[in-house]
Amino acid sequence: MSSLTVCISGKGSTLLSLINAINQNQLPAKICQVVADRDCLGKFHAFNHTIPFYLLDRSIQKDKFNQQLINLFKQSDWVVLAGFLSVIDETVIKEFPNKIINIHPSLLPKYGGIGMYGQKVHQAVLTNKEKTTGATVHFVDSGVDTGKIIAQAEIPVMHDDTPQSIQQRLAPIEQNLLIEAIKNLI
Ligand code: GRF
Repeated sequence: MSSLTVCISGKGSTLLSLINAINQNQLPAKICQVVADRDCLGKFHAFNHTIPFYLLDRSIQKDKFNQQLINLFKQSDWVVLAGFLSVIDETVIKEFPNKIINIHPSLLPKYGGIGMYGQKVHQAVLTNKEKTTGATVHFVDSGVDTGKIIAQAEIPVMHDDTPQSIQQRLAPIEQNLLIEAIKNLI
């Protein structure tokens, strides 16, 4: 059975959707560890489901931080960035070609890059009067949100949308997209 490392920085709703999909036999995988780069609510999903949880300290020397990531990522077949806000250094990426994937709440290459996360993405979509938006699962390369696209899902932008309403409507679509993408990869 394929093993997953899931990396988080926030609420962990994406993590929870993966846990639920596995428990409901919709995803034949095992989450062997959850890694966070800051103290965050998502840790409770790991605790509640007795999944080993590792909290990284971002203030340590970069080389040491990278080595910790490398040591952790070696423990699983796949690494899933599920709302993980740290940019992963090239020295880590090159150890794991085509093994680290990310979910991003836009139709990449649109609205990706440094600082483009969460509601900032949806605000930019609204500011630019886009007719559609969506989510992308992609391999992680040494750029930010630039890796090879694995899967995308598109939704219409409504005339009365707000960043919050887009986020709410997109969340289950993102989660399903990620589950299906992992299922196809493993
Ligand atoms: C989602 O928008 C996902 O695309 C992004 O992080 C958000 C989910 O955060 N990368 P969380 O799973 O609730 O912590």
